[in-house]
Amino acid sequence: MAGSRKVNTMSMATLHRNLVKAAFAALLMLLPARLMAADAAPADKLSDGDKQCLGCHGFEGPKKELPGGKVLSLHVRGDGFAKSVHGAIGCTSCHADVDLKTHSQKPKTIASSREYSVAMTKVCGGCHADALKQNETSVHAMLLASGNPSAPICTDCHGSHAVTPKTAYDTCVGCHLAAMDAHRKWLPNAGLHLEVVSCAACHAPAAQRMVDLRLYDGATKKWVAEKEGKPEFEKTARAADTDGDGLDAMELRKLIGQLNRDEAAQPKNLRGRIELRIGGEAHQLSGKSKAIKDCAICHRQGAEPFQNVAISIFSADGKPLRYKAQKEVLGSVLSVDSLREFYAVGGTRNILLDILLVLAVLAGLTVPIGHQVLKIIVKGELERAARQDKAAKGRDQP
Ligand code: HEC
Ligand code: HEC
Ligand code: HEC
Ligand code: HEC
Ligand code: HEC
Ligand code: HEC
Ligand code: HEC
Repeated sequence: MAGSRKVNTMSMATLHRNLVKAAFAALLMLLPARLMAADAAPADKLSDGDKQCLGCHGFEGPKKELPGGKVLSLHVRGDGFAKSVHGAIGCTSCHADVDLKTHSQKPKTIASSREYSVAMTKVCGGCHADALKQNETSVHAMLLASGNPSAPICTDCHGSHAVTPKTAYDTCVGCHLAAMDAHRKWLPNAGLHLEVVSCAACHAPAAQRMVDLRLYDGATKKWVAEKEGKPEFEKTARAADTDGDGLDAMELRKLIGQLNRDEAAQPKNLRGRIELRIGGEAHQLSGKSKAIKDCAICHRQGAEPFQNVAISIFSADGKPLRYKAQKEVLGSVLSVDSLREFYAVGGTRNILLDILLVLAVLAGLTVPIGHQVLKIIVKGELERAARQDKAAKGRDQP
């Protein structure tokens, strides 16, 4: 994604990014599997015009000299571009000013690669007006306007020639590694929170949140993605949702069973995350003073993020595909099997956990109670609920 950026302006960010890849292996495990896949699509999907451009730019080597002895690599990877969301629209939809008759003979003056990138991203907004508008109010755009040379622009988060719908969240940690520790000062078990709450869920406070129950493959330790050319998730989910009002616990269980029909040993399971309902609202990042710090936003009965629930997997090209589930599935006994990886103190209907949370906060402990202990308690609670459920059913029987 960041491969096409020039080394001279963003070398620190790139360095950080690499550091993070090692240090945050656990966090990276959460990323779509395809993120690390090799870039090997054939370039023959491209138009003849684009192939012509790549006839000169598709090779490593050619560089343009910039003032101050810096260089701008002119290399663009054709395979990466062909696979990107923009492969179909072609080179000149962003480089409309390139005229092959004069091109390369009339060198353009480029002061620095950063300035060039900033100027070039203006074209993004031409087609993505919403994203541009959302981004304009972000803390990053304000930093950029005030002259911060490292504040990210569109291409820092999305790339320029290999843009895919894949979530751009991984780039946050790449630039903010040092800030991760700051969260430990006030957030108990910050590591876990950063794993299960997306950055924007706290840093875009005006956005709407939801619980995203993502299918996770315990055997490969990766999020589940659809096989290329075999989009089945939407259809299977729709079929399971017999009354069309979102999956209830029983329907969810059926769906998980169906998605697992070929798996014997280690079934695919659900992992819950707090995400934004509308991905694009991730652009509305505010400064740290406005970020969500209030535990009760998530940890209380009927908390806002838990009012909308979806089950999701990734499409072959990395887009999250979501299907609505009823919010009650979070507390339901029926879905315990599939939801055992996920519970949130208070967010689901567990009063005992609320009390534990209060105790933990009062005691001011950073790692209050072991995960395992909480899990045992949750399990006990759910089993108790199951017994009550059964007893109630028994009474209803004629
Ligand atoms: C979606 C918009 C978009 C499309 C489509 C696009 N480019 Fe670019 N291009 C950019 C941006 C933005 C930059 C500015 C550099 C940066 O931010 O990485 C750039 C920079 C360049 C550069 C300067 C070197 C560099 O990487 O900075 C070359 C050469 C180039 N593009 C060639 C191409 C070719 C050839 C194609 C088609 C195969 C193409 N571009 C398609 C957006 C695009
Ligand atoms: C005959 C080889 C050749 C072809 C074909 C070619 N380029 Fe270039 N391109 C160059 C050279 C050489 C430069 C560096 C010129 C300079 O010093 O400014 C360049 C520079 C660029 C730049 C960066 C500077 C600028 O002018 O914006 C972009 C973007 C770019 N080309 C895009 C394209 C696109 C898009 C196409 C296809 C429509 C294309 N090129 C076709 C040779 C070529
Ligand atoms: C000429 C119009 C055009 C320009 C200019 C353009 N895009 Fe796009 N972009 C598209 C189209 C068309 C799609 C595919 C839409 C789809 O599949 O839903 C797309 C998709 C995307 C997506 C994926 C959205 C998703 O579904 O998750 C991102 C991210 C993106 N573009 C970023 C950029 C960036 C960054 C730039 C500037 C470097 C840019 N675009 C410039 C037309 C454009
Ligand atoms: C700080 C990083 C960052 C910057 C800067 C950024 N984006 Fe995004 N963008 C994201 C994230 C995160 C998402 C949400 C991805 C997801 O759905 O998981 C996103 C989503 C998108 C989407 C798909 C959703 C939608 O709104 O259609 C498009 C298109 C897009 N961005 C374009 C842009 C453009 C154009 C710019 C520059 C004006 C830009 N982005 C700047 C991080 C960034
Ligand atoms: C290319 C690097 C880069 C990327 C990618 C990036 N940021 Fe930033 N961000 C910065 C820089 C530089 C600043 C300003 C200096 C600072 O506070 O670290 C900043 C500032 C911030 C701030 C304001 C901190 C304050 O002091 O108020 C927040 C919050 C933030 N970023 C969150 C995010 C999130 C969330 C993402 C991912 C969606 C992200 N950033 C992606 C570079 C980046
Ligand atoms: C549970 C909510 C929450 C989550 C999740 C979260 N943050 Fe924060 N973050 C905050 C709050 C609140 C602050 C301000 C803390 C303070 O200084 O009072 C903060 C501070 C920051 C700062 C400024 C740090 C400094 O030096 O003072 C950055 C940068 C940042 N976060 C980035 C991120 C990134 C990147 C992610 C995702 C990997 C993330 N945050 C996840 C709530 C969150
Ligand atoms: C944006 C939502 C959000 C905010 C804000 C938030 N949390 Fe959490 N928290 C969660 C989620 C989700 C989990 C469940 C993680 C899991 O087990 O899967 C969790 C788990 C916990 C746990 C259990 C940790 C463990 O070891 O299992 C504690 C304790 C906790 N949070 C305390 C807090 C406190 C104290 C605050 C405020 C300083 C806070 N949380 C703010 C979402 C949030």
